[in-house]
Amino acid sequence: MSYYKVDNLEQYFKHYNKSVREPRKFWGKIAEENFTWYQQWEKVVDFNMAEADIKWFTEAKLNITKNTIDRHLNKRGTKTAIIFEPNDPNEEALHITYNELHQRVCKMANVLREQGIQKGDRVCIYLPIIPELAVSILACARIGAIHSVVFAGFSASAVATRIMDSACKMVLTADGGFRGNKTIELKEIIDEALEKCPSVTRVLVTKRTNTPIQMKEGRDQWLQPLLEEASDNSVAEIMDAEDPLFILYTSGSTGKPKGMVHTTAGYMVHTAYTFKNVFNYEENDIFWCTADIGWITGHSYIVYGPLLNGATTVIFEGVPSYPDFSRFWQIIEKHQITQFYTAPTAIRALAKESLEYVNSYQLQSLKVIGSVGEPINEEAWHWFNDHVGAKKCPVVDTWWQTETGGIMIAPIAFVTPTKPTYATLPLPGIQPVLMDEKRNEIEGNQLVGSLCIKFPWPGIARTIWGDHQRYKDTYFSDFPGKFFTGDGALRDEVGYYRITGRVDDVVIVSGHNLGTAPIEDAINEHPAVAESAIVGFPHEVKGNALYGFVILKETGEYRNKENLFKEINQHITDHVGPIAKLDKIQFVCELPKTRSGKIMRRILRKIAAGDFTDFGDTSTLLNPEIIDQIKDGKI
Ligand code: WTA
Repeated sequence: MSYYKVDNLEQYFKHYNKSVREPRKFWGKIAEENFTWYQQWEKVVDFNMAEADIKWFTEAKLNITKNTIDRHLNKRGTKTAIIFEPNDPNEEALHITYNELHQRVCKMANVLREQGIQKGDRVCIYLPIIPELAVSILACARIGAIHSVVFAGFSASAVATRIMDSACKMVLTADGGFRGNKTIELKEIIDEALEKCPSVTRVLVTKRTNTPIQMKEGRDQWLQPLLEEASDNSVAEIMDAEDPLFILYTSGSTGKPKGMVHTTAGYMVHTAYTFKNVFNYEENDIFWCTADIGWITGHSYIVYGPLLNGATTVIFEGVPSYPDFSRFWQIIEKHQITQFYTAPTAIRALAKESLEYVNSYQLQSLKVIGSVGEPINEEAWHWFNDHVGAKKCPVVDTWWQTETGGIMIAPIAFVTPTKPTYATLPLPGIQPVLMDEKRNEIEGNQLVGSLCIKFPWPGIARTIWGDHQRYKDTYFSDFPGKFFTGDGALRDEVGYYRITGRVDDVVIVSGHNLGTAPIEDAINEHPAVAESAIVGFPHEVKGNALYGFVILKETGEYRNKENLFKEINQHITDHVGPIAKLDKIQFVCELPKTRSGKIMRRILRKIAAGDFTDFGDTSTLLNPEIIDQIKDGKI
C-alpha cells in the first residue's frame, strides 16, 4: 500500500490513523517510495519537544535538486517545468523545460562555486519574481549553500537587518524589478543596505530593467557574462537530511524578525506530499500560485512542491491590478491553469471590482482553487467559489505558517468536503490539538482554543537562525511538550477546524472569548463595507470592548454614519451574537498592512487604546503613512 496519495475520504481516515499510530512507518514509506536518496536514514524521526530538538530522516544523505530536477530528466526532460509570465502582458511568456532548468541551475551553481560560495554559506537573494529567482534558489541548494530570500519590496534597512542576522556572504540581485507600472530600483536598495553589511563580499546582478546602476569594483559583477562562461554540468553536493536548506524571515508580532531555518529532507517530503494531495496534482496540470517567492508560500508551492512532483509551475512577475483588474483571469485563460492558489486579500480586492473582469475570460481549465495566509471571510469564499471556481472547483482553504514549512490543515481536493471559512481537517501526519487557558487539551467539539501541534511533522522549522533559545521560548514554552502556533481555532461538530486568527487577536469581552475573524466576517457582510479589522481595547466593566476599523466601499454614497454603525452592530448581533457588538467604530480609508497583506493589529490596538506613544517596528508595513491618518481620525 502506498501512502503518497489519498483518493477518497475513507482512505483519508485510514491514512490519517496510520500516520498517528505509526508515524515512522507512514512517513518512512512515503520518503522511501517517492524520492532519490544517496543513503537511507537510520531513524525516521528523533525528537525531544521540551528541548525543541527535532530531526527527521537522521543520517540520510540526499540533494534536493536531484529530486526537483535530475530525477525528472529521463521521463520529463522536454516537459515545461516553469512558465514565466512577465509583468507586461505584451512581453512574451517563457517556457523553461526540465532540461533547460537543469542547465540553468548547473550553470548558476558553478558560478556560485567559482565565486567562492561553499556548503553552509548563506546567500541572500533579493530578486524580482523572474526565473533567475527560482534558478538561484535551486543553485544554492545544489551546492549546499543556504538561501535566504528577502522579499524584493523590503526597504534597505529591512534587507540589511536580515543580511546581517545570518551573515550572508553574497547577494544575488537585479538592476531593478517591474511591478505593475512601477520600476523598483533593487540594486540601489542593495547598495544602501550593504553599507551596513561587512559580511557580503560579492554581489551578482541580473539585468532585468536596464536601470542605470553603479557597480562597486571588486564586489559587484553582472551575472549574465559569468553564466555564459560557466559549464552546464554540476555535481550536486551530498547533504545530510538535517543540513539547513534555507532561512526565511518572518516578522514576529514584536521584536526583530525571526530567521526560521528549514532543513533538507523533512521539508522536501512534506512539501511534495502536501502539494500532491491538497491540490490533486496530476501529470498534465499547470499549477499557479500567485504568492511572492519571497514568502514561504512561494518557496513551498511555486518552487519546491511543484518541481518535486515534476509539475509545471507558473512564475508571475506582476500584480493583479496591472494593466487592469483582469490580469489574473487573463493569465488563467492564457496558460490553461488547472490549480489557482492565492490569498484572501487578493480575492477581496478583486471582488470589489466589476464582475466583467472575471466574466470576460474562460476559466474552465480550473479544477482546484486555493486560499492561504489569513482567514478567508465568508463573502470572499463565496465570491471565489461562485465566480472563479464556477462552483465546480473545490476551494482549498489551507492553513499553515512559515514555521510549519508546508500545509497542515486543509481540504484534500475532491476528497474532503469543503465548508466556507473552514480549513477543515488536518492532513495525514498532522496532529493538532486545542488548548484552554489552563493549558489543558480541550476534548470534544464546538469549542475554541489555542492551536497547538502535539507531534512533530517533517516540514517543521528546526530553529531560529542563531537563537535556538528564542525558538524554544516562542513555540515550545507556552504549552510544554507541544508546538504552539500562535493561532486560535474553533473545532466544529464534525472535527473541522476554523482558524479564528492569531491568539493575540482573540479578545475576551465580559469573559467571553471572541475571535476577531468571525466578527469581521459579519461586518463585511454589510453591503456598504469593503473590509474591516477589529481589536480589543480596555473597558472598565467588560475587561475588553471591541473597536472596529472599517473601510467602506467606494460607491460614493456615504450614508449617515450613525445609522451605519447601528446596522453594522445589528449584523454582528445576527451573525455572532450581541456580545460581539462594537463599542466604537472608526471609518478609515486603509488599514495598516504588512507587505504580505496582513493587518498589523498591534498598531490598531494601540490606536484603539488611545496610546499614540511608540508604534514599534513598522518597517514591514506597506503603508506606514496610514498610521498618522488613522490616529488623526482622517478618512
Ligand atoms: C495565518 C503563510 C486562516 C495564520 C503560509 C498563520 C491563516 C499565519 C491561513 C502564518 C488560513 C495562514 N486561514 N489563517 N488558511 N493560512 N494563516 O507565516 O494566522 O506568512 O499563523 O505563512 O497566517 O503566516 P505565514
